[in-house]
Amino acid sequence: MKLKKLVVIAALFFNNQINYSCSIFAYVGSQLCKAHVLKGLSRLEYRGYDSSGFAVYDIVTNDLVVLKKPGKIAELKMAALASSCDGYAALGHTRWSTHGVSNEVNAHPHTNDDRTFALVHNGIIENHFQLREQLSKEGYTFKTETDTEVMVHLFDQELKKTDDIKKATLQTVRKLKGACTFVALHKDHPEMLIAARQRAPICIGVGEDGMHIASDFLAFADKTNQVFFMPEKSIAFIKKGAIFAYDYDGNVLPIETKTVNLQPSAYEKLDHDHFMLKEIYEQKIAIEKTVAHLHELGDKVWSQLGLTPQQARTLFSLNLFGCGTSWHAARIGQFFFEKIAKMPTSVYLASEFRYMEFFPCLDCLFMSVSQSGETADTLELIRYFKKFGARLATLTNVATSSMVRETNGHLLTKAGPEIAVASTKAFSTQLASLYWLAHRFALQRGHINMEQMAQAEKDVLHAASVLEQTIDQYKVDIIEAAKTYAQAQRIMYLGRHVTYPFAMEGALKLKEISYIFAQGYPAGELKHGSIALVDEHTPIILFSHQDPVIYQKLVGNAQEVKARGGHLLIFAFEGQDELIQLADRVYTIPRVAPLLEPLAMTGIMQFFAYQVALVLGRDIDKPRNLAKSVTVE
Ligand code: M6R
Repeated sequence: MKLKKLVVIAALFFNNQINYSCSIFAYVGSQLCKAHVLKGLSRLEYRGYDSSGFAVYDIVTNDLVVLKKPGKIAELKMAALASSCDGYAALGHTRWSTHGVSNEVNAHPHTNDDRTFALVHNGIIENHFQLREQLSKEGYTFKTETDTEVMVHLFDQELKKTDDIKKATLQTVRKLKGACTFVALHKDHPEMLIAARQRAPICIGVGEDGMHIASDFLAFADKTNQVFFMPEKSIAFIKKGAIFAYDYDGNVLPIETKTVNLQPSAYEKLDHDHFMLKEIYEQKIAIEKTVAHLHELGDKVWSQLGLTPQQARTLFSLNLFGCGTSWHAARIGQFFFEKIAKMPTSVYLASEFRYMEFFPCLDCLFMSVSQSGETADTLELIRYFKKFGARLATLTNVATSSMVRETNGHLLTKAGPEIAVASTKAFSTQLASLYWLAHRFALQRGHINMEQMAQAEKDVLHAASVLEQTIDQYKVDIIEAAKTYAQAQRIMYLGRHVTYPFAMEGALKLKEISYIFAQGYPAGELKHGSIALVDEHTPIILFSHQDPVIYQKLVGNAQEVKARGGHLLIFAFEGQDELIQLADRVYTIPRVAPLLEPLAMTGIMQFFAYQVALVLGRDIDKPRNLAKSVTVE
């Protein structure tokens, strides 16, 4: 076996939320593997849980056996238990539906008409419509609503033209546009798995008894820590003791494995009912680890970000971009960079900005913010910016992610693996990192001194303590209050300045796990239309601010709500008596450094959403219709 070992890291906090919102897990080796593949798939269920499926080359019948079930993976496990099939090569899939409803027919694996191979796919084939038309004309019939079926027919067509499986695979992948990562098992090659990577990541764990192929190495973390990450636009033929990989031109690729370390406890709920709750409570430690890491980095941060110290001093502007919670963190971060580092800062929603005019600026830094480092919208914006020669960096939680590979530099948050779909500690560590980086830029640009830099680190740690302490302080009240708020049809979240994007994050947290409609709104905009919604049935959650001027404006907004019979739940700071008196319910928070208001309020904001969802009996760690990282565009 030609494996060149490249020992890269000893203690990275890898995270497990990767892109393309479905997952693949496969095995080929010397062990009967049905149970192993199903267990691996369960570990990846966070990536999608609309349906799941499994195919094995059964050693008794010498044929492919395919099992598929809509719904959670427990359904598939039941079906697999009832079946006697087993073998030494198998593949599985959990699906987050993009094309076609979640039923058995649309579930992967898909087989060709002759049932000679089974295939699982992760991604969206962008030219599937054209391919479907073309293949239909050529006599193929389509049984599913999936885009994947075109891939199956194409591969079938190529296999019928040649006995050379490498050639057939290359011919297939070259015709596909978009995210087309797949793994296939062919019954004429039962000792081998065929894999291709295009956009959605896939990696191969090199184990003692065989090879484990997965969207995320978490799936086989108990078997091996030697991992080959398939490069973009590559194919591989994987056997028990060997991997043969090629680029799309057919050139041989070197097989370099990386050593990855995982923290097993991160993948257990321990004594918590949900991962989300565990992760809410992990935030203080995660922030401390992040600050310690950044402190140690010191002025090496510039080279890590792909900048010279001189460039850090003179950069014209900073441009942050991301999606969802990460976009909210970036929006909050904008205030840090502008106020502290005096840098003009813009924030883009990755899914929108891709289609807008871009006016290149070579003296600017474009930094993605992404927990997973794999979100498709954000990745595509990176690729878009790259075409213009933009200077790119990423702030991410995953050292091995595509964003780290595809940008000039990176900064890592140390949140550790975040399993719950709702982002909690990833968000707070992003805030901590952006606050730290803003101070580092300020230092480099002569706006603050070392003492103020050190104070900034202490301020973040203090805010992290407040984050945790307020959960304990208000836990009982929030549990009780959640029973009432869970009855609401809609909830409005208000903030101003730095607490406006925080209000958007509060609303997102509530709606994604409780399914109650919520909207984050700038308090000052209320009177421009949305105040029409205010009534006793629409609770308003208002996040205060410590700045005296902004605070007074918020008092005014609270009065406007009360004057219309609205119900106010207020997150206020100590001493804000005027605002506190207007509240129907209030959580008073110790004061923190300016601009760290969102970090301090994060714990109880998330805990509130969690408790409301709990009252409603929601599937908190895996909310409906979602996947951990939404990575289809
Ligand atoms: O991995 P990313 O940070 O790039 O993911 C972006 C969003 O999909 C993500 O933040 C999402 O909004 C949260 N999971 C919601 O809690």
